[in-house]
Amino acid sequence: MSWWKDTVIYEIYPESFYDANGDGVGDLVGIRAKLPELVRLGVETLWICPIFSSPMKDGGYDVSDYFGIRESVGTFEEFDALVAELKEQNMRLILDIPINHTSDSHHWFQQSKVSEANPYRDYYIWRAGKGEFPPNNWISSKVGGSCWAQTEETEAYYLHLYSDWQPDLNWENPAVRSAMAQVLQFWIDRGVDGFRLDVINKIGKEPGLPDANVDPETGEPFFPEPYFQNHPLSHGYIQELRSRLKGEEIFLIGQTQGVSELEAYQYAAPVRKELDSFLQFEATDFRKTEGQSQEAFIEGWKEKLFRWQRIDECLSAMIFFGSHDLSRTVSHYGEDVTYRRESSKALALLLLSLRGIPVIYMGEEIGMTNARYRDFSKYQDIRTRLTYQRRVLEGGEPEEEVLREIWETSRDNARYPIHWNAGNNAGFSEVKPRLSPASNYRQVNVESERREEDSVLTFYRKMINLRRSEMVLRRGTFHPLKSEPGVISFERVWESRRVVVEVNLTHTPKKSGLTGSEKSLITTHSNSWMQPTLAAYEGRILVI
Ligand code: NOJ
Repeated sequence: MSWWKDTVIYEIYPESFYDANGDGVGDLVGIRAKLPELVRLGVETLWICPIFSSPMKDGGYDVSDYFGIRESVGTFEEFDALVAELKEQNMRLILDIPINHTSDSHHWFQQSKVSEANPYRDYYIWRAGKGEFPPNNWISSKVGGSCWAQTEETEAYYLHLYSDWQPDLNWENPAVRSAMAQVLQFWIDRGVDGFRLDVINKIGKEPGLPDANVDPETGEPFFPEPYFQNHPLSHGYIQELRSRLKGEEIFLIGQTQGVSELEAYQYAAPVRKELDSFLQFEATDFRKTEGQSQEAFIEGWKEKLFRWQRIDECLSAMIFFGSHDLSRTVSHYGEDVTYRRESSKALALLLLSLRGIPVIYMGEEIGMTNARYRDFSKYQDIRTRLTYQRRVLEGGEPEEEVLREIWETSRDNARYPIHWNAGNNAGFSEVKPRLSPASNYRQVNVESERREEDSVLTFYRKMINLRRSEMVLRRGTFHPLKSEPGVISFERVWESRRVVVEVNLTHTPKKSGLTGSEKSLITTHSNSWMQPTLAAYEGRILVI
């Protein structure tokens, strides 16, 4: 059985994990220094967000050299030392790598833009404009504006699905495909066990790059995703990439936004020899609407979660609630003031008892909340800054209103430094970091969580341990159960072992489905499992 089927993954955004060299930026030595914490937590695999050379305009998802490590993050020597230590701890390492696009400062693009005759020209997607207009009407759904830009050197336009400094690579070109296989092999040879392939479902583009349809009411083009998101061509490219990699059980995870169940099967069914697992975002992209009750929100979320729990048995999906792109888990699905502890634990119980390969996003294990900076200038995320530019500066919307939205949606919520203790800079660094800690760092930090017996951190440890010892939680089949609104309840079955999971994700007590003949496996609220009601944000796992 492949190692990754039973693993628990911990995602690290390196800039903000721990700064060991006192320059205000997290680094590889910092990850190594805190490894004992992660070993104690019980996670078995690290997923590290991009560490490659990069101008860092998009958190490292703009690579300027795939064979280099960013100076602020560390050196090859430090990387090798981290790999060696992980191996000693029997842990695995997954690197996050964006290979749909590069930074415009990558030497491939620097060459490519020079002239049509340059040998790197076809590494990117260049087309002639239509008179004064770009080659087609594609608008970027991620950053707004045309998906095309020009350089000074030639008249042609290049395609960029993200910012104009993130040109898309031309996967139709066999030279790009073999260059990327070499890149991955380089890191495999250095000890990496797998990759999280960033937006890999966008590498295949519809030949001819046709215009998107236009909305008859507004005259504006619809978003162009149908022409490149989960395009059939991407499968061949991924299969080819996989077939070129040499190494034992290299774990390939695809970031596959907007994937349907059939497409997920095409990417990740073992017979396809493409990806091993995939990240889908239907549940995590689900947000509470204005004025919606917590009950109604959780019911909507549950429907999405359950849909992806019932997928074909041969698929191993990733299961995650937070990431470097999302809100903090407790702020998104729970209640992060009065019930911060309770709801963090309830979400931990849920995450680690669902089907799939669980990913804990750094800081989730201590119940870190959204940062909610009062001062807009503290935000650094490119998308947040673009929102501010477009809506406040150009659109004239009240700053207060836009800021409130940013409090819940900015990617900086996930990217601000880990609170290690209640000291200066929350113990993250000796100097002021790029992003400030949240104002609650004196209460919410690793040191205080470590001290308390009923902390979120202690609960995560218990849950990870339980998952490790209970095959039923890792491999059991999934069956939804009926429950009161706002309660998530389901059964997992493995051979003769049957467990029932009940999680109340609301502020109000709810009726439990308990019959009285069950035994408690774990609960978020000590000694309450026999009660016929679930307390606010209480979770239980019962054995039948
Ligand atoms: C998805 C990554 O998760 C996100 O952080 C990044 O901005 C885009 N891909 C572009 O690479």
